[in-house]
Amino acid sequence: MGVPVDKPRVVLGVSGGIAAYKACELLRRFTESGHDVRVVPTASTLHFVGAATWSALSGNPVSTEVWDDVHEVPHVRIGQHADLVVVAPATADMLAKAAHGLADDLLTNTLLTARCPVVFAPAMHTEMWEHPATQENVATLRRRGAVVVEPAVGRLTGVDTGKGRLPDPAEIFEVCRRVLARGTTEPDLAGRHVVVSAGGTREPLDPVRFLGNRSSGKQGYALARTAAARGARVTLIAANTGLPDPAGVDVVPVGTAVQLREAVLKAAADADAVVMAAAVADFRPAAYATGKIKKKDGQDPDPIVLVRNPDVLAEISAERARPGQVIVGFAAETDDVLANGRTKLARKGCDLLVVNEVGERKTFGSEENEAVVLGADGSETPVPYGPKEALADTVWDLVAQRLS
Ligand code: CTP
Repeated sequence: MGVPVDKPRVVLGVSGGIAAYKACELLRRFTESGHDVRVVPTASTLHFVGAATWSALSGNPVSTEVWDDVHEVPHVRIGQHADLVVVAPATADMLAKAAHGLADDLLTNTLLTARCPVVFAPAMHTEMWEHPATQENVATLRRRGAVVVEPAVGRLTGVDTGKGRLPDPAEIFEVCRRVLARGTTEPDLAGRHVVVSAGGTREPLDPVRFLGNRSSGKQGYALARTAAARGARVTLIAANTGLPDPAGVDVVPVGTAVQLREAVLKAAADADAVVMAAAVADFRPAAYATGKIKKKDGQDPDPIVLVRNPDVLAEISAERARPGQVIVGFAAETDDVLANGRTKLARKGCDLLVVNEVGERKTFGSEENEAVVLGADGSETPVPYGPKEALADTVWDLVAQRLS
């Protein structure tokens, strides 16, 4: 018989909003990936989704009050034994109770006894989210080390739309997975604004054609997700990625290198760190044909004349928007990886350069990556072949060191 491996213990707190039904999917993701989940709903949650559903999906008992199984002292034990507490959806009322340390049911007691990382995924109407009382409660929770995921923008209950939707359960799950993987309550990027560029620019030739590249954007998205999980406010400048918006991240879609430059400069103005993971085209067609370019019988095609695009990384490194701003570049190299990396780091003037060797299985479109992070201070941090999130966390470790 094999030795049983301890499953990470997750408390899923569910407070009483219509988005409670989405927490069922979050629960399934946890249980299907080997987590032991104890669901602690509030009494009002059971109006939306009943105890039988939570119990059947988690395989664990469910109670809302401290008076069940009193001999097991659940109001203390559940929180003490958890590796992660996630409250999804977190209503305005729940955020207020948590911020003020009220403890009038099992979930609020659990929040007071937990010493593990705590993630809140709020969902409510826009007015309630924007109310100064809620905003102050969110700020209090963040200051104390909780991760509060920004709500998504979109359709709310009824006909309303606006900010306040529960982010996609898959995205909340990713935030939780990263927080669990780090195993620390320390949101070392809390209070920081970070900007990440991702994807690949497209330089149009005519209304139907463009010059592009093979960047999928996955590494940049992993950077955005991990930064959010570490407490940062994140602006993600996304060039042609087609990937779902990460939870709690402000996504700015762009197309061309010139648009990307504008968006990065704007977001970098008050940023503590900028990570340029996007593959930016070095050149663009000198002319854009407003009508589709047609082939002409018996004639060779016209050559495409290219002009240089601005080098965004070099520009923001040379003229830092804020003193102490940390700037990170990426470089994909095919040979003499380290030597070329060092030269590029010096030429671009950034603080850190993540260098990967481009080859089979590596980098483009894959879930894994392997790299060396070169520092302007001469440091060299190898990151072994593994998930793009692991590389992202190493980058943020190095950024956090430089910010502190
Ligand atoms: N980059 C940028 N603006 C450009 C081109 C690249 O900001 N016009 C950034 C990328 O986001 C990346 C880094 O610069 O972080 C390195 O990109 P790379 O294409 O490897 O650098 P180049 O200067 O284009 O070097 P090479 O001559 O090897 O293509």
